[in-house]
Amino acid sequence: MLLIKNIGLLATPQGNTVRCGAEQGAIAKHADASVLIDNGTIVSIAENGELPEGSENAEVLDAGGALVTPGLVDAHTHLVFGGWRAHEVPLKIAGASYLDILNAGGGILNTLVNTRKDSEDELFERSMGFLEEEFNFGVTSIEVKSGYGLNKEAELKQLRVIRRLDKEAKQDVVSTFLGAHAIPDEFKGDPDGYIDYLIAEVLPVVVEEKLADFCDVFTESSVFNVEQSRRILLAAQKLGLPSKIHADEIDPLGGSELAGEIGAVSAEHLIATRDSGIEAMARSKTVACLLPQTSLYLGKPFARARDMVNAGVPVAIATDFNPGSCPSLNLQLSMNLGYLRYRLYPEEVLTAVTLNAACAIGMGEKVGSVEPGKQADLVVWNTNELPMLCYRMGSNQAKTVIKKGKIYETH
Ligand code: NIG
Ligand code: FE
Repeated sequence: MLLIKNIGLLATPQGNTVRCGAEQGAIAKHADASVLIDNGTIVSIAENGELPEGSENAEVLDAGGALVTPGLVDAHTHLVFGGWRAHEVPLKIAGASYLDILNAGGGILNTLVNTRKDSEDELFERSMGFLEEEFNFGVTSIEVKSGYGLNKEAELKQLRVIRRLDKEAKQDVVSTFLGAHAIPDEFKGDPDGYIDYLIAEVLPVVVEEKLADFCDVFTESSVFNVEQSRRILLAAQKLGLPSKIHADEIDPLGGSELAGEIGAVSAEHLIATRDSGIEAMARSKTVACLLPQTSLYLGKPFARARDMVNAGVPVAIATDFNPGSCPSLNLQLSMNLGYLRYRLYPEEVLTAVTLNAACAIGMGEKVGSVEPGKQADLVVWNTNELPMLCYRMGSNQAKTVIKKGKIYETH
C-alpha cells in the first residue's frame, strides 16, 4: 500500500468518458488531500486533512503541499522513426512549405528511407530513450503511430516496435496503424493503388497479429482524399480497428466531416477546420485531438479550440512528436499553448491532456483521472497551483511521477 499525503490540491477530471462543453472545465478539486493506492490501483481519496481508512501501515509519500494531477496522456505521436530532419529547417526559412518538401520527395519520404534502414532493435532502443524523456515530463500513457515504413515489411516492423515498447517502457503504449501516411515511391501517382495494397496485403496481417489498436489516415491535399480515407478506415473498422484521422492539418478537405460521418474516435490536428467539421464532430462526440506545437513549428494558425469546446466537441491536446512537424517531447509546452493560443482555461487544458486524451486512445476506463478503481498514474508537481502548469514555460514542472503505484523522481 502507498499513501500519498499532504497534497495541497488534487485536481482531476472525473469519469471514464469524454468531457465536452462546460464539462470539459468542470474538474474536481480536493484540498488537503491524500490518495491510497494498493497494487497499482487507486483505492480511496480523502480531503480536508483526513486520511483514507486503512492507510495506517502504508508506505508514505509526502507531497509537501504540492499540486497533484492524473498522469498526463500524450494521445498523438509518431515516436518510432529513423534519422532526424534538421536539414529541412533552412529550406523552410528559404520559403518551402511542408507540402513542397513532401512533394519533392523529402519530408515523410525522407524519414521512410531511414526507418526502413534501421533494424527493429535500433528503432526500439531509440524509442525507449524518447519514452524515458517523455516520462520525466509526467507522461504516463502514450499513443504511437506507424507510418514511416509504407510497405508491409517496414510497417510491421514499426508496429512490432510499438508493441515491444508497451511491454518494456514505463508508460502504457497504444498502437495506431498509419500505413496511409504518404504515398511511397512504389505507388507514386497511384494513391488508390496504394490504398488497395494496404487493404489487401497489410491490414489483415496487422489485425491477425494484433499489432494495432486503431487505424489512422493522413487526409490532406496531395496525400489521401476523403474517398480514399473513407475506404481504408471502413475496411479497418470491419476488421475491428476503430478510426482516427489526420484531418484539416493544412487544407480543409472534409476530414473532420468524415470523422463525424464514420464515428471516428478522434480527429487530429484540425488547424483549418470549418464550421461543418466542428458540427459533425460535436454530433458524433469525436475527440478533437489538437497539436499546438505543430502549429508553432509549421508557422500555421492555431486550431479553433475555443469554438470546439463551446460547440460541445471533446478536446484533447497532444504533442505530435515527429521529426518533421514537431520534434518536441514536452507535452507541458502543448499545455502552455493550449492556454495562451487556444484560449482554454487551465481546468479545460488539464482535461485535454488527461481524461479526454485517455478516451481518444481507448483508455478512459483505466487512466485519465484520479478516482478509486483507476490505475495509480499521478504527477506531483513543483507548484501548488493549477494555473502555474499552463503559465510557466520551458521548465519541466513535474517533480515526481507515479506509474501503477511506483514512484519515480524526475530530478
Ligand atoms: O502529424 N501530418 C502528418 N504526419 C505528421 C508529420 C510527419 C512528418 O512530417 O514526419 C504530423 O504532422
Ligand atoms: Fe501527426
